[in-house]
Amino acid sequence: MSNLLEVHQIHSFYGKAQALHGLSIEVKKGEVVSLIGRNGVGKSTTLKSIMGLVNVEKGDIFFEGHRLNDTAPCEILSKYKISYVPEERRILSTLTVKENLLLGELSISKTDRKNRSWNLDRVYELFPILKEYQNKKGTHLSGGEQQMLAIGRGLMGDPKILLLDEPCEGLAPIIVQELTKAIEHLYHDGITIILVEQSLRLSKVLSHRQYILNKGETVYLGKGSELFDNEELVQQYLSV
Ligand SMILES: Nc1ncnc2c1ncn2[C@@H]1O[C@H](COP(=O)(O)OP(=O)(O)OP(=O)(O)O)[C@@H](O)[C@H]1O
Ligand SMILES: [Mg+2]
Repeated sequence: MSNLLEVHQIHSFYGKAQALHGLSIEVKKGEVVSLIGRNGVGKSTTLKSIMGLVNVEKGDIFFEGHRLNDTAPCEILSKYKISYVPEERRILSTLTVKENLLLGELSISKTDRKNRSWNLDRVYELFPILKEYQNKKGTHLSGGEQQMLAIGRGLMGDPKILLLDEPCEGLAPIIVQELTKAIEHLYHDGITIILVEQSLRLSKVLSHRQYILNKGETVYLGKGSELFDNEELVQQYLSV
């Protein structure tokens, strides 16, 4: 099967500071691929590079065969249907939960709205608490609920691929469990996802394949069980 997304040897920069040094990943349709690695290795920068939010000076990003380099972030969202749920969630405090969700569908054209697979009802089914709190202001929710809202808003864009940056970070175990269930649900639904995840255990449960990143490069590609059995790799690239 051909790749939905191909990131080929990209070099990404923040001003003069280089964050990615020839990083490559590939994602097929229906796959959940996770990016793991220690702090600062370039996981978030990889997602931002795909979204056109950082400067990719060398290398190529192809989505469904189209080269995305130099495409504006809003076009990446609306034309290519790539949704990004950033680490910091960016929930709008003056809007209600429902209004925050509806923001997610602004990128979809009227004609596409008729045939989309995600809508409010489906998001509420995935995260019932959002329906219950639909008229509450976004920031009156707990951290975990805000994360659900951010994922829900991403899904409202009816994405062909969803980029999730550390959705479980800093959340209580019970909320992590709930989020894990929801992501598992998306996994079984055949949604294509790139998941940034610090926990090797979670990334194993939630993804088909895993890339280990180190110093702005991909250093290993494998499946969870192989990684678990490879203590040397875990020691070298993952343990703190
Ligand atoms: N806005 C920025 N300006 C300058 N340098 C940055 C910026 N954001 C990240 N960097 C640098 O780019 C490199 C990669 O950072 P990135 O945020 O992609 O790492 P990460 O793997 O997501 O880390 P974490 O696990 O802490 O989220 C790091 O050296 C970081 O200091
Ligand atoms: Mg990060």
